[in-house]
Amino acid sequence: MSDTVHRIHFPATDAPDVTCAPGTNLGTLIDGRGPIEFGCFSGVCGTCIAHIRPADPQKLAEPSEAERALLAFFGEEGKETRLACRVRVHTDLEIHTV
Ligand code: FES
Repeated sequence: MSDTVHRIHFPATDAPDVTCAPGTNLGTLIDGRGPIEFGCFSGVCGTCIAHIRPADPQKLAEPSEAERALLAFFGEEGKETRLACRVRVHTDLEIHTV
């Protein structure tokens, strides 16, 4: 069993950092604990669009085709822009509102 812990940080907010085990779903983890709001938790409503900055970019999986399509639909196609509910945590992350 790994004892690695990842830290989620919300710069420019009063929200305290959140820690988790590798592979944790970001949306489930930070729902109600940071500045990002959630709706469907299934990648279809776009409520959770956020800017996500990984400590190690190689450990943040690329968005799926469906995630890219939804971000494009909302005109949010920036490099750091993601659906927070579709992200699995495998590195420390900074979360910013859009
Ligand atoms: S909560 Fe609906 S797309 Fe993430």
